[in-house]
Amino acid sequence: MHHFAYRDGALFAEDVDLRRIADEVGTPVYVYSSATIERHYRVFAAAMAGIRPGQPAHVFYAMKANSNLGVLRTLASLGAGADTVSEGEIRKALAAGIPAERIVFSGVGKSEAELAFAVEAGIYQVNIETEGELDLLSKVAQARGRHQAAVFRVNPDIGAGGHAKITTGSSENKFGVSFEEVHRLYARAANLPGVRIAGLALHIGSQIREVEAFEQAYAKMRALVLALRAEGHGVERLDLGGGLGIPYDIPKDFDHGPGLIEAYAAMVARVTEGLDLALGFEPGRLIVGNAGILLARVLHLNPRPTKQFLVVDAGMNDLMRPAMYEAYHEIWPVAEPVPGDAGVAYDVVGPICETGDTFATARTLPALAPGDLIAFMTAGAYGASMSSTYNQRQLVPEVLVKGDRYAVTRPRQSYEELIGTDRLPPWLA
Ligand code: LLP
Repeated sequence: MHHFAYRDGALFAEDVDLRRIADEVGTPVYVYSSATIERHYRVFAAAMAGIRPGQPAHVFYAMKANSNLGVLRTLASLGAGADTVSEGEIRKALAAGIPAERIVFSGVGKSEAELAFAVEAGIYQVNIETEGELDLLSKVAQARGRHQAAVFRVNPDIGAGGHAKITTGSSENKFGVSFEEVHRLYARAANLPGVRIAGLALHIGSQIREVEAFEQAYAKMRALVLALRAEGHGVERLDLGGGLGIPYDIPKDFDHGPGLIEAYAAMVARVTEGLDLALGFEPGRLIVGNAGILLARVLHLNPRPTKQFLVVDAGMNDLMRPAMYEAYHEIWPVAEPVPGDAGVAYDVVGPICETGDTFATARTLPALAPGDLIAFMTAGAYGASMSSTYNQRQLVPEVLVKGDRYAVTRPRQSYEELIGTDRLPPWLA
């Protein structure tokens, strides 16, 4: 479920008329619903806490999905932790009020400076992906008189996900330490002064909607936990990653319900039965995906003999998912469609000078005219966080709605900011 619905003929975000946001903030603009974010976090966190009451089930929100400060603060106030992948993300999580002891640091290529920052901040856990990183972390932590808690991210050799570009768990992918290697690394780490290996982590991919793929990978982890313990190693933590998918082709009355989340929780309970582990989860898309829309305005119609282009003011630099992953996003006109309207099949395109700047082909929408507003639905995850200034377009603004209030949580970049960050070399100045 989400909190975008038609009221008196126009699309609202909670109690705010999207036409008002479009007029006051301009388009394109991302609009997020606090109520949807809060609801999804609560449902997920409660289901995970229910797996084994009394044993920790930490939720580290994967902030790469949406790293807007207002979104992060909303989640921080509910007790969420953060899964981070760069120093910038750690800094932003801290700035949003997520305490260091609820932050994990993942990522395949962490630099020495980033590890040093993480250690000094006192984060909960570093998810180590290579032997070199293990040594580097130990060195960096020892130099600071620290003993950093860490886990090995294991590659379970089970790939899954909505698209080849977002599959991570196959041995063909760059992520994690292999199952064979982890035994040796665990033993080696025992002699390193700056790290304490507390357990294991994995993340198999994104936009996964079948529990079976997770189960296969998690079952392998169970066997690995038992094998490592038999070798005398301590394994207290298991970070199960993110990846739970969401429906993008939502009928207007669709209720997500907790179906997939419940099935996932039941599966995790089964697979981790009797292991006595502190569990960790890194959901991103599931928390924020359908909590956000990208609001855009129609600029022009471009009729062709075989098709009709609808040119809108949002581009692939604002929402990259269709261009990059052939992703499907529902498009809802802000003016409520009249029942029975046969509609027009549009190719919905942006202003960027690339054919890939196409959001939808032959999509049936009510007849639209320049000035009309549309909403790209389910754009809360990997929308703004992947946006850029390509074609020297201003970085897209973000708005957070709460009940009948809204606030601009990232203003549209000014042209001064856009151009002013470049510097002329002295020989051209
Ligand atoms: N943990 C790790 C280590 C990850 O790499 C990711 C996502 C997550 C958690 C969160 O996964 P989620 O729950 O959101 O599926 N830009 C792509 C998705 C990339 C996912 C990258 N890793 C898209 O727009 O579909």
